Amino acid sequence: MKSLLHSRNIFLSLLAVVLYAHSSCWACTLTSKNAAQAEEKDWWQTAQFYQIYPRSFQDSDGDGIGDLKGITSRLEYLKDIGVTAAWLSPIFKSPMVDFGYDIADFYEIQSEYGTMDDFRELIAKANALGIKIILDFVPNHSSDECEWFQKSLRRERGYEDYYVWHDGKLDADGKRIPPSNWLQAFRGSAWEWREERQQYYLHQFAVQQVDLNYRNPAVVEQMKRILRYWLDQGVAGFRVDAVPVLFEVETDENGQYPDLEVSGTTDDKDDRTYLKNNLVENRPETIDMVYQWRQVMDDYQRIHGGDTRVLLIETYAPPAYTMQMYGNRSVEGAHLPFNFNLITVLKQGVSATTVQEAVDEWMKNMPAKRTANWVIGNHDQRRAASRYGVQRTDAMNMLVLTLPGASVTYQGEELGMIDGEISWEDTVDPAACNSNKSIYENFTRDPSRTPFQWTAGTNAGFSTASKTWLPLAPQYQTLNVDVENSSARSHLKIYKSLVELRKSSKTLQNGSYKYKALAEDLFVLKRFLNGDDTIIYVANFGDKTVTVDLQSEFDATLPSTMTLKISSLDSTKTLGSDINPKSIIWLPVRR
Ligand code: GLC
Ligand code: MG
Repeated sequence: MKSLLHSRNIFLSLLAVVLYAHSSCWACTLTSKNAAQAEEKDWWQTAQFYQIYPRSFQDSDGDGIGDLKGITSRLEYLKDIGVTAAWLSPIFKSPMVDFGYDIADFYEIQSEYGTMDDFRELIAKANALGIKIILDFVPNHSSDECEWFQKSLRRERGYEDYYVWHDGKLDADGKRIPPSNWLQAFRGSAWEWREERQQYYLHQFAVQQVDLNYRNPAVVEQMKRILRYWLDQGVAGFRVDAVPVLFEVETDENGQYPDLEVSGTTDDKDDRTYLKNNLVENRPETIDMVYQWRQVMDDYQRIHGGDTRVLLIETYAPPAYTMQMYGNRSVEGAHLPFNFNLITVLKQGVSATTVQEAVDEWMKNMPAKRTANWVIGNHDQRRAASRYGVQRTDAMNMLVLTLPGASVTYQGEELGMIDGEISWEDTVDPAACNSNKSIYENFTRDPSRTPFQWTAGTNAGFSTASKTWLPLAPQYQTLNVDVENSSARSHLKIYKSLVELRKSSKTLQNGSYKYKALAEDLFVLKRFLNGDDTIIYVANFGDKTVTVDLQSEFDATLPSTMTLKISSLDSTKTLGSDINPKSIIWLPVRR
């Protein structure tokens, strides 16, 4: 780095670029060259994970629904954008009440998605291309159509306690009421009465998603069997669904469940957040179960060899809880508990300060020697581009791919796909269907589940059907793989150059980091590694032009010449041009 501290007077060219009316360089990645060398990491520690929502990725048989053959036919695309491992949302047999998160048979493939042979083909081709496949493991509940539930309903031997059953209680008038006031995630009571058993069952999600009873060792064993079964099929690991709600508080000495206190955060009595959910979420037993699943992965590894099988865990929980998911000094937990901070913390607004807060909350709480990861979207959230502002698309993708650790991309984020516009009539997500026409948009997850945009043609190249299961999102004629691959500059091209940089840079893979919010708007991240390139990420998240001297305000050791490697779409600066970090004018987001 020091060798490059020469004082060429290139600075004026930057001012010139800034003078262009609609140009900006509010999000750029700069590099400065040095020698190389670094420690080796395991594959998942620097991986680029990519979430596929199978129903919406590629339809191969013209029924308007994505499927496995469709995914297989698009694996070259994943290769092209550098994906290390693709995580598939559930592909198992399901009545599709929650689009696969209600599983009727954990050992079978949903027929509209294909067959076991199709799955084997997918794995074989992915492996040949060097792409790993990760499956969604949904341990908290099964569909009410699952054979286990049907047996439990009939109190068949071995299945009596497979689910969480309770008699309920009697109110003052002697009328039977649910065991407690608990609410489900998709509005209304978490308890459902069944005449057949004369009991209530627990469901933390939809009525048709029945909570399995993890205090029953047979259930614990069954679920481990499922993990091994799919590992035998060659998957590289699992994304584990809805982990925080795995266990609930136990009944008291009278066999009763306690009511939850009112939270005071909303007046909507059907909304789960109406109550404080501390007794039904983030229980200590859940952490132990994650440790047990990790043991399954490690044992499998020991017996069968091959690359590390990973566990990615879905937890929307406070850091003190989430961080325990990593394991502790004596036991290993999840390889990566998903870091949703860039989603949750940024709900307050997107600024350098909130970005810093989001990064801090992970990096300052993460135990030593663990691997960070960064998520900006998934099938449960509005589209990243719509949430953060379309203009920030590249800035956010850059952030995810330059921060230390693994990155996670939800299908379409690389294109800057925006939310679909789904009418009440077209709404299919249970989270929204359980509400009503006037409020459904507060709950619906359909907008981020619209078909993937491949081309500007019919159904964006997703399907030949006359109607797709969800309508296409707006702007698919311009936001699609074809157009973005053939444009000189596009979100996709920026994404690909980020991936390339990351794959070739030991600094990004193994380097140290330092970051800072300069004033409200400018977020700066430095990645550095002894003897290797230094990489700086700078983004102006605000709406004002900011002039900054990165040497005096951020890092005095920065060289006075750096090279512009990657810049956001609306920047007109020439890639490869020299930049003096002492005085850069960062234009704001273009409106
Ligand atoms: C997870 C999934 C979500 C699903 C829920 C119930 O949060 O991401 O899509 O509805 O679990 O399985
Ligand atoms: Mg299909």
